[in-house]
Amino acid sequence: MQTQTLENALVREDLFPINGTDHIEFYVGNAKQACHFYQSAFGFDLIAYRGPETGDREKISYVLRQGKITFVLTSALDPGHDIARHVHEHGDGIKVLALWVDDAAEAYQTALERGAVSAFPLQMMEDAHGQVRMAAIKTYGETIHTFVERSGYQGAFLPGFAPKASSMEVRPLGFKYVDHCVGNVPLGEMNQWVDFYQKVMGFNLLVTFDDKDISTDYTALMSKVVSNGNGYIKFPINEPAEGKKKSQIEEYLDFYRGAGVQHVAIATDDIIYSVDQLRKNGVEFLHVPEVYYDSLPERIGSIKEDLEALKRLNILVDRDEEGYLLQIFTKPVQDRPTVFYEIIQREGAKSFGKGNFKALFEAIEREQALRGTL
Ligand code: FE2
Repeated sequence: MQTQTLENALVREDLFPINGTDHIEFYVGNAKQACHFYQSAFGFDLIAYRGPETGDREKISYVLRQGKITFVLTSALDPGHDIARHVHEHGDGIKVLALWVDDAAEAYQTALERGAVSAFPLQMMEDAHGQVRMAAIKTYGETIHTFVERSGYQGAFLPGFAPKASSMEVRPLGFKYVDHCVGNVPLGEMNQWVDFYQKVMGFNLLVTFDDKDISTDYTALMSKVVSNGNGYIKFPINEPAEGKKKSQIEEYLDFYRGAGVQHVAIATDDIIYSVDQLRKNGVEFLHVPEVYYDSLPERIGSIKEDLEALKRLNILVDRDEEGYLLQIFTKPVQDRPTVFYEIIQREGAKSFGKGNFKALFEAIEREQALRGTL
């Protein structure tokens, strides 16, 4: 059962104002090569760089942008650096979900007063292009939320970064913004993290999925979605539920060695173009059998997209009370079966594709079986 909560309908004062996602930072084994992947396969532009040439001898970061999405890829240069330990432990993964706020000091203080744990205290950074203030709190696993206050900063990314352009031809794929970021946590911890987002950051519980919504013959999971006051930030939190075999969430937790970000959903206005290009660029997607499309017209009703194109590209469709959405999921984008992407086009629908869960989880199970983890 999908349970809409009362809070969903209430208009409340926003007690923790967040403008949107500022950036997502990945800790990776080889930032230079990851940077090539996000340019050549995902169509991101390289915009900034930090490393020895800019005065940082410990780590290297490449900053990529497409639409309103900013990714930072960071690697350690020193084997003793905590970034190197993080990569050793988790593989390539997401360390920072950074949130854009108007007052970093206030956001940080408020969060701490409400029980958050500090990741780093307020820092003021400045260069010729202006000032940025940042502070961070811990969330699930080793993931952190940095509060970024830009105060009209005019530089390429942050003080300390130099502008850097792509040295290759980059074709943007129509990516607009981060739609949602999903976290996987161990069994029994989902409610704790949902409470954290509600109490510390004033998020609302949008929707709850239980193991009856999200289960196949073999695996099950539970999920709750929390969202900030203006609705721009949506964080679904998953935990495994008991199934006959190892769930995809347990597989993630085993390979990531703990809780972490499972997927980032990227919004596009033209999913057919985006996915067509991604496929041409070599990005691999989960495969849903053709039979999925047989019952699609009666389940979904009329949509403006060409059904044959959706079928050819294996794009999924779901409908809710407010409209429909189109979505597809990549395979994991690093060696470990951990982080992956969702590409999503919303045509009015504000939900998460519940009607596709079964087909998707069966597709994931086929991949798990190939890995010998199911
Ligand atoms: Fe998603």
